[in-house]
Formats: sequence, C-alpha cells, structure tokens
Amino acid sequence: MGIDHIHAGALPVTALTAWQSLVKVAAVGVGQRVLVHAAAGGIGHLAVQIAKARGAYVIGTARESKHAFLRDLGADELIDYTTTDFAAAVRDIDVVLDPISGDYGPRSLETLAPDGILIDVRGTGPDRTAVREQAHARGLRFVEFGFTPSGVDLRDIATLVERGSLQAAVDQVLPLEAAAKAHELSETNRAQGKIVLVP
Ligand SMILES: NC(=O)c1ccc[n+]([C@@H]2O[C@H](COP(=O)([O-])OP(=O)(O)OC[C@H]3O[C@@H](n4cnc5c(N)ncnc54)[C@H](OP(=O)(O)O)[C@@H]3O)[C@@H](O)[C@H]2O)c1
Repeated sequence: MGIDHIHAGALPVTALTAWQSLVKVAAVGVGQRVLVHAAAGGIGHLAVQIAKARGAYVIGTARESKHAFLRDLGADELIDYTTTDFAAAVRDIDVVLDPISGDYGPRSLETLAPDGILIDVRGTGPDRTAVREQAHARGLRFVEFGFTPSGVDLRDIATLVERGSLQAAVDQVLPLEAAAKAHELSETNRAQGKIVLVP
C-alpha cells in the first residue's frame, strides 16, 4: 500500500475506531458539520482525515501549537480549547466524535443540531449517566462506541491510504523495551498522532 511498517502499525485500532464511528455509526456525508475533539491525537487526527474524505466540514479542538498540523490534514476550523470554550464557539454540528468524555459530553450536546449525534469513544472511565440522560431529554442521539476488529473495514481504510486521503502521523518510535516509557508518554495526553513500538 506504499507505506512503511511503522506507519502501517500506527493505523489499525485508531483508524477502525474513527472509521466505524464516523462511517458506520454516524454515516457522515457531504456537507455535514463534524466536530472532532482531541483532533491531534491518535483517533482524532485520523477522524479529521476520514471526515474530510467523506466531504464533511471539519472542526477540531486542539491547542494552538497543533493547528498547522491539523490544517495540513484538512481541518477547516480549529478551536484552541485552552483559550476558547468550544461549547460557546460552535453550533449546528451534525456529528461530534469525542475521545475525551467527562464534561466534554454535556458541553458537546450544546453544539449539536436537532438531529445531531454525539459519539463518545473514550472507553472505560467517566460515568456517562448524566450525558445520556441529557441527550435523551433533548431528543439528541448519544452513543458510547468501541471498535470491532474488521478486515472489511480495514480494506476500506487501506483504500483511503492508497488514494492519499489518509495517513497516520507518528509522534515517536520507541523500542519494545521502552514500552513503559511509551505508556508514560501516552498518559501525558499530549501525543500528536501515534506512539509506535518496534522490536
Ligand atoms: N472506543 C475505542 O474503540 C477506542 C479505541 C482506541 C482508543 N480508545 C480510547 O480513546 C481515548 C483517546 O485515545 P487517543 O489515542 O486518540 O488519545 P491520545 O492520542 O493520547 O490523545 C492525545 C491528544 O489529546 C489532545 N487533548 C488532550 N486533552 C484535550 C482536550 N481537553 N481537548 C482537546 N484535545 C485534548 C492532545 O492535544 P493537545 O496537545 O492539543 O491538548 C493530544 O494531541 C483513550 O482513552 C483511548 O483509550 C478507544
């Protein structure tokens, strides 16, 4: 497919999460407004590209130092969440992809169009009872999503890569022996793209 093993290894889990959320769950289409939180992260930077490839208008949250990186990936609008309240800054969003969760859930509901959907991909962690109840009360869709391994979806993802519409960004490459350091880096929550371990 024309990419090396490091970049190929960076793709599957995060690309499947982004692809299945945006394409299978939300059916993102041309002209839709998609808000991607943690847009510079492992899931987020792929979600930005997948949503763009589907013809969406993509807004991302990321600190200012990462905006150039995200513009290069196709983001149309960026919000520095360290200085701007995204919940006050954007409206009429069709799909929110949220790898952060916690208070981002209720705040993201504020941004949604009446038939919008909030997809929380954080996995284990915060209690989602409040956001689920708020979404239900307002007739908005809220989905907690975890990826499923799928060769079919990986082939669709590979097609995007072959077309030049999707690339994994690699923040750091570390030897397998440095797995603990890789976890520590990941837990800083600052990675731009993926951290990859090699034998
Ligand atoms: N549901 C699933 O199937 C699935 C699959 C894989 C992973 N996950 C989970 O999804 C979560 C995210 O994973 P990931 O690999 O995408 O994370 P990640 O790469 O570690 O995220 C790091 C990024 O988050 C950004 N960020 C941190 N706090 C932020 C905030 N408050 N607002 C906006 N951006 C913020 C940082 O950018 P700045 O420097 O701009 O802050 C950084 O670029 C993890 O909890 C992971 O376990 C779920």
